[in-house]
Amino acid sequence: MTAIAQAPADLLPEGLLEFLRCPTPDAWVGWALDNPELLLIDHAQCEKKAASTAMSLLYRYVDRPLLLTKMSQLAREELLHFEQVVKLMEDRGIAYRHLTASRYAEGLRRHLRPEDPHRLVDILIVGALIEARSCERFARLIPHLDDELAKFYRSLVKSEGRHYEDYLMLANQASPSAIEDRVAFFAAREAELIAMPDTAFRFHSGVPA
Ligand SMILES: [Fe+2]
Ligand SMILES: [Fe+2]
Repeated sequence: MTAIAQAPADLLPEGLLEFLRCPTPDAWVGWALDNPELLLIDHAQCEKKAASTAMSLLYRYVDRPLLLTKMSQLAREELLHFEQVVKLMEDRGIAYRHLTASRYAEGLRRHLRPEDPHRLVDILIVGALIEARSCERFARLIPHLDDELAKFYRSLVKSEGRHYEDYLMLANQASPSAIEDRVAFFAAREAELIAMPDTAFRFHSGVPA
């Protein structure tokens, strides 16, 4: 395999690489390039899930106008990304099928505190981490992709980077106190999930077992 290129850092929002406690391991990049169909199918799943998470916040937190505006915009963008991935799969003759979810999102959500506003703050921090990791992984993949997919992923780096910033801003706004400790806690769990061996390739999986 050719050498794994690093993420073009100028594509990413400032502070994103520091927010994530570890870069995506080269072994995951190689795994993704060996599984181009699974990559796109699971990517489609992730976009759909991201829209659905934003929608559930719209239902639960109706008394927060900024959150409602941001999550409504975000849900629409994620559904647009979903349509774009599905179209790309169709063009490439890749059949959409159900995949089991990776351990990643659940591995973060199991640490949510039960009572609001703490629960909301945690959900928003987890959202920021998932968006930041997605953004970083798209950027890492770009140097290895064909022109069409690279161009698409460059556009996603921009929007997922913005989603990361929005989630973090909303977490700060929703929290009665500083969020640094909670960010550090979830970022450490996230880095563990990214570095640990994993059995199945997914967009957010760890390294091949
Ligand atoms: Fe997206
Ligand atoms: Fe996103």
